[in-house]
Amino acid sequence: MLAFIYLLLLSYVDISSSISQINTVFILAGQSNMAGRGGVVNGTSWDGYIPPQCQPNPSILRLNKELSWVLATEPLHKDIDTNKTCGVGPGMAFANSVVRRDPSIGVVGLVPCGVGGTNISEWRRGSHLYNQLLRRSAAALGTGGRIRAVIWYQGESDTLNLEDANLYKRRLHRFINHFRSDLQFPSLQLILVVLASGEGPYVEVVREAQLGTHLPNVRHVDAKGLPLGVDRLHLTTAAQVQLGHMLADAFLRRELPLPARSCSSKLSGGFVLEFLMRFVKWIPVL
Ligand SMILES: *[C@@H]1O[C@H](CO)[C@@H](O)[C@H](O)[C@H]1NC(C)=O
Ligand SMILES: *[C@@H]1O[C@H](CO)[C@@H](O)[C@H](O)[C@H]1NC(C)=O
Ligand SMILES: *[C@@H]1O[C@H](CO)[C@@H](O)[C@H](O)[C@H]1NC(C)=O
Repeated sequence: MLAFIYLLLLSYVDISSSISQINTVFILAGQSNMAGRGGVVNGTSWDGYIPPQCQPNPSILRLNKELSWVLATEPLHKDIDTNKTCGVGPGMAFANSVVRRDPSIGVVGLVPCGVGGTNISEWRRGSHLYNQLLRRSAAALGTGGRIRAVIWYQGESDTLNLEDANLYKRRLHRFINHFRSDLQFPSLQLILVVLASGEGPYVEVVREAQLGTHLPNVRHVDAKGLPLGVDRLHLTTAAQVQLGHMLADAFLRRELPLPARSCSSKLSGGFVLEFLMRFVKWIPVL
């Protein structure tokens, strides 16, 4: 009952001042464990349990399907990963942890982009998922935020056959290089979650590919050993909370103060406008 009243009150929180103060943007992308299956029973219904670490916070917004900022609530990917039932993912626990531990972070904007069951080939440059990722990232930048990191949790679908598992590293590198180049943000941070599970037998091959990805500004968070649900594929709600904290540790530990004139200045004003103009050409093909 109290939780309900709290939610009701939060739904009346005026977030308009938060929107104008969005400072720190995180892109959440990948497949089901990013979109969140914590608390999803038999793939068909979510138990509705939201742990204290994942509760809404007026300083945490999310970019919805219509590219508007709204108060972030679980399930974060509800209107993005629409063909599956979404539950708790790592995003809210991550954001709450970052906001609590680093008051300088300001208002956080989360940009959910994960879609369940998608392999790395479906994220290649020019694909629907890739275009959506770019379009949503550009929209977040257009409202004045600065992207501090992309959190990437994907690869379970690339463990089905050895050939795809062996190609994962090359495909992931290409994806990262393309995304950084299309955003004109070559130093964009990427936090790579190393698989806890997979749909097929070649989990270790994909894990090795992820652990062996040593591009600049890529950091790893190893999810191996986190509790899985009865399907042996999806992280439980408790595991997602733990992962959120691990992601926050990785982000806060390694985040270095930006030099006085860095990409942050490039990513404001004229650059964003130029980027959006350039991007307008893409939109009709989406
Ligand atoms: C999930 O599905 C299995 C097999 O179909 C069934 O035995 C079980 O009762 C279901 N669990 C819930 C909580 O619905
Ligand atoms: C849902 O499924 C349809 C049909 O397969 C597909 O076209 C669409 O892209 C899917 N949407 C998402 C969000 O996965
Ligand atoms: C990736 O997923 C798509 C859609 O399910 C499928 O057509 C394709 O064969 C899969 N694998 C690769 C390597 O593209």
